[in-house]
Amino acid sequence: MKTEQHNKTLSSSKAIILRITKPAAYFILLLLTYTLGYLSSPSSPTSSLSPNHVSSTILRVSNHTSAELNSFRVTTQCSDPIPPEKIRRTVIDRVFDGTSPFHDFPPEHATAMLERTTKVKGWGSNGAVFENLIRKVKPRVIVEVGTFLGASAIHMAELTHRFGLKTQILCIDDFRGWTGFRDHFKNIAMLNGDVLLYYQFLQNVAFFNQTGSVLPLPFSSGSALNQLCDWGVFADLVEIDAGHDFLSAWADVNRGFRILRPGGVIFGHDYFTTADNKGVRRAVDLFAQIHNLRVRIDGQHWVIYTT
Ligand SMILES: C[S@@+](CC[C@H](N)C(=O)[O-])C[C@H]1O[C@@H](n2cnc3c(N)ncnc32)[C@H](O)[C@@H]1O
Repeated sequence: MKTEQHNKTLSSSKAIILRITKPAAYFILLLLTYTLGYLSSPSSPTSSLSPNHVSSTILRVSNHTSAELNSFRVTTQCSDPIPPEKIRRTVIDRVFDGTSPFHDFPPEHATAMLERTTKVKGWGSNGAVFENLIRKVKPRVIVEVGTFLGASAIHMAELTHRFGLKTQILCIDDFRGWTGFRDHFKNIAMLNGDVLLYYQFLQNVAFFNQTGSVLPLPFSSGSALNQLCDWGVFADLVEIDAGHDFLSAWADVNRGFRILRPGGVIFGHDYFTTADNKGVRRAVDLFAQIHNLRVRIDGQHWVIYTT
C-alpha cells in the first residue's frame, strides 16, 4: 500500500517536473536557434550612415542569401603582376607605339585651340579623400576610371609629389564626355565634330608639369580595365568616377577591384547622387555585400579597404 502511494507520488511529481521543464527546454532551444541564426547571418553592407540614410534598395539587397549573391561574383583571374616601375613603359609601348603621348605636345593644328589654365573643372576633385588615402596607402600605382579634364588626376599627382612618392597615375577615359556635356563646356574646342577633350586633358597635365607621372588610357572603361588585367597591371588605389548609372558603376567596380593589389583601396565619387535611382550606391553596396567588405564614407566619396 505504502509502495503504491509512493509510486503515485513519484509519477505525479515527474509529471509536474515535465510540465515545468518541457516549455523551459523549448524556450532554451528557441533562444539557441535564434542566437545561432543571428551570429551566422552575413553582415549587412555596413556604411557609416545613420539608419535614416539607408535606402529601401539596400535593405532589400541584404535579404539575399550568400548562395544567391554568389551568382554575381566575377571570377576572372588577371595575369601575374608586373613590377610597378615597369608599368609606365608597358603602357607607352603597348598603347602608344613606344612614344609618350606628351612627346611634341601640342601638335600645331591644335595649339591655338587649347586653353592654358590653372582652373581645371572637376567634381569633388580636390576632396579630402584623396589626401587621406594617399597618405595612408602611399601608392606606387593609381588607376583612375573617369578623368574628364584631369582635375582629380592632377590633384593626386601633386599630392604624391608633396609626399615624396614615385607614383604612376593611369587615367582611363574615352574622352567622349557624355551626350550634351558640351552645353556646359563651350570652352572645349571642337574640330570636325570632335570635341578636343583628350587634347585638353593632355594640355592640363602638361600645364601642371605632371607629364612624368600621369598617363591617359583613352578607351572605354571596360576594355581598358580588361586590358590592364591581361597585362598584369595592378594598382594600390583604384578610383571609380565614370558612368554613374547602376550598370556602368557595377561593371567598373568589379573590373577595378580585379586589378587591385592585395591591401589596396578602391573608392569612388557620387555615393549620394540620385542618378539612376542611386545607381552608384546600389552597385557599391551590392559589391560590398558579396565580398563581405565594408563601405566607408569620406565626404561625397565611398571607400572600400581590402584589409
Ligand atoms: C565625372 S567625369 C570624371 C571627373 C574626374 N574624375 C574629376 O574629378 O575631374 C566622368 C568621365 O567619365 C568618362 N566616362 C563615362 N563613361 C565612360 C566609359 N564607359 N568609359 C570611359 N570613360 C567614361 C567621361 O568621358 C567623363 O570624362
